[in-house]
Amino acid sequence: MPKRFYFQTFGCQMNVYDAERAAQLLVSRGYVQVNDPRRADVIWVNTCSVRDKAEQKAYSALGRFQAFKRKNPDLIIGLGGCLAQQEGSALLKRVPFLDFVLGTKELRKMPEILESLDRSGGRVTAADLRGRVDPYSRLPLFPPGGKVSAFVSIMQGCDNFCSYCIVPFVRGREVSRPPGEILEEICSLAAGGVKEVTLLGQNVNSYGGRTPGGLGFVDLLDAVQEISGIRRIRFTTSHPKDLSPQLIRAFGRIPKLCEHIHLPLQSGSNRILRRMNRGYSVEEYAEKVSELRRVRPDMSITTDLIAGFPGEEESDHQATRETVENIRFNEFFSFRYSDRPRTRASLFPDKVPEGVKQRRLAELHALQKKITHEKNKALEGRELEVLVEGRSKAGAGEKTGRTRANRIVNFLGDSLHAGETVEVKILEAFPHSLRGEITGMRAE
Ligand code: SAH
Ligand code: SF4
Ligand code: F3S
Repeated sequence: MPKRFYFQTFGCQMNVYDAERAAQLLVSRGYVQVNDPRRADVIWVNTCSVRDKAEQKAYSALGRFQAFKRKNPDLIIGLGGCLAQQEGSALLKRVPFLDFVLGTKELRKMPEILESLDRSGGRVTAADLRGRVDPYSRLPLFPPGGKVSAFVSIMQGCDNFCSYCIVPFVRGREVSRPPGEILEEICSLAAGGVKEVTLLGQNVNSYGGRTPGGLGFVDLLDAVQEISGIRRIRFTTSHPKDLSPQLIRAFGRIPKLCEHIHLPLQSGSNRILRRMNRGYSVEEYAEKVSELRRVRPDMSITTDLIAGFPGEEESDHQATRETVENIRFNEFFSFRYSDRPRTRASLFPDKVPEGVKQRRLAELHALQKKITHEKNKALEGRELEVLVEGRSKAGAGEKTGRTRANRIVNFLGDSLHAGETVEVKILEAFPHSLRGEITGMRAE
């Protein structure tokens, strides 16, 4: 009887991608994936440690799985992802029922580890992060199985060391995957019916920068444009300091490149941006946003903001509010600052009280809610291209999809299938989604 595995993933798209690759690896060795952890022989929790809350989620998931192990002592429980990398073998001491810990660059060792645990028991940690090693080379690739949209990692790690951020410590130094492997992967996704790819990396703009003479990020976008079957290209995340004029121009030049960019600002105060080691000013950021909007007037711009970074005064928070009002993002993700081990900001003495962080976060949310709704309202009456993703949760017979600018649209369309592209006239805008009616089909 084949062994059954269950993965639970927390954190960013990178972790989702890693879990897919790890699952393909286990399937290639005869394992079967199940979606009920109670039926699994192996449970792997793929974790995030970007904020304290993310870390807590991983521990509470482990707590839940511990109960399964009491019923089934042969159950193998492993931890992977960024928390696993951060804590390494210390986790085995702290969590007595944990069988293995797998670091972010060690995915390919998962089958060997499982085999050795099966053969001889014991407990294993593999968490080597050294060197600019590509963690995805030589992993098997499988057809995507009915997906419309897929992630493709193009690089790993980060060399930026923003003062609050743990990512460089848990994903290691920046390393770009070879372009040939990326393009081959996208071709096989397209052959399996995928229409939209999102290229992933901590800082995609610096793709290829460490490989002299290799393809740069915009060259890679040009190459993906040529892959037939792929209709939409997205990427995340790009760092404002490295957003080149060439990449900005690409938004007006590469037809499949969608008019949406996630461009994390983090703070609207120059003093705080310096303390964060971000390498740009609010004015430089705003100038890049203007250039993007010059190239694509309908460009959607989303961002990340941190509330209550150490030393953030009321005047800095006010500056962030003004920046949010001036730039008018389509949407943002905002977080309360959280101390992370080994980061420089964790040593800054002037921490902001939790209550103040919470209030500032709430103020930013209230401000953005209004802007998002106004921006969505402005779309009422417009006809937009929508890629159908599947059935909507909203109502019977309704389908759901996304516009090129990444807004969710629900509409009636019984006979439509996932992967088709339609023209939808927007009838009504809600805070987080749109409702519309089909006015036409787009040819493949
Ligand atoms: N590589 C991406 C995102 C990395 S983490 C980038 O450079 O933008 C995703 C987001 O988490 C960050 O943009 C930041 O807003 C937030 N974040 C990272 N560390 C944090 C911390 N210590 N406390 C609160 N938010 C944090
Ligand atoms: Fe973290 Fe900064 Fe790197 Fe993004 S660019 S992953 S925020 S260190
Ligand atoms: Fe979290 Fe690691 Fe992603 S810390 S945000 S899972 S890179």
